[in-house]
Amino acid sequence: MADPGRRVLVTGAAKRIGRVIAIELSRRGFEVAIHYGQSRREAEEVSRECGGAPIFQANLAEVRQIRRLFSEVRERFGPLRYLVNNAARFTRVDPLEITEEDWDFIHDVNLKATFFCCQEGAKQMKEQGSGRIVNISSLGGVRPWAEHVHYNASKAGVIMMTKGLAKALAPQITVNSVAPGVIPFEGDVDERVQKMIDATPMRRAGRPEEIAETVYFFLTGPDFITGQTLVVDGGLNDR
Ligand SMILES: NC(=O)c1ccc[n+]([C@@H]2O[C@H](COP(=O)([O-])OP(=O)(O)OC[C@H]3O[C@@H](n4cnc5c(N)ncnc54)[C@H](OP(=O)(O)O)[C@@H]3O)[C@@H](O)[C@H]2O)c1
Repeated sequence: MADPGRRVLVTGAAKRIGRVIAIELSRRGFEVAIHYGQSRREAEEVSRECGGAPIFQANLAEVRQIRRLFSEVRERFGPLRYLVNNAARFTRVDPLEITEEDWDFIHDVNLKATFFCCQEGAKQMKEQGSGRIVNISSLGGVRPWAEHVHYNASKAGVIMMTKGLAKALAPQITVNSVAPGVIPFEGDVDERVQKMIDATPMRRAGRPEEIAETVYFFLTGPDFITGQTLVVDGGLNDR
């Protein structure tokens, strides 16, 4: 049974990791709100899998739309106690060729939107006296990749922002981060990704359920844990 106090918004929840996080949280008793950007049909499917969960659209690259999203969530769903910032962009560009547009394309969503979603979510949580935020960062936030320098910087920013917000929002709200390693879906595994999987000490790619499980831990575990990033990568980072 969903607990009405356990209201969580998952951003980018129509597909892939976000979809699995939403479904797993719903299965474990959370009342889930599903955010999507463009994937409406898929968001509706996730809604059905989450027992008719409400869906909300917003282009997170615009702070105005983020503010509208959170106010709609509050009105239609109720004030949030939990937030999972999962939506992100990923591109591969040689750093010598990167343009201002390439840079902003990544940072607008990965870092700026994550910050403003935290800000809006925290306002609703503060009013209720407590809350939990989980930001999905990346192994790329702690380990450099030559053709993803812009992405690395955005995800390293998410990790530091998580620490800063944990200080700023304590003691009512915890802010933690999950940093996935290689979590491939159909069509993702090219030669480069296969090399990373081969180099992973656990000798396999990660599963989205493993990311969802870690998110669940931060949402329900001890509130003495805040500002932390848990890398879920089969040991690849420490190799
Ligand atoms: N998959 C991996 O191997 C991996 C590894 C490390 C880290 N991660 C991180 O884990 C999270 C999920 O990864 P993923 O591979 O499942 O992600 P993804 O498919 O690349 O993106 C997730 C969702 O983000 C939403 N999104 C992107 N830009 C948006 C915008 N401007 N406005 C609104 N929504 C936007 C999209 O929603 P719509 O489709 O509805 O537009 C998309 O479905 C991300 O934070 C990613 O960086 C993933």
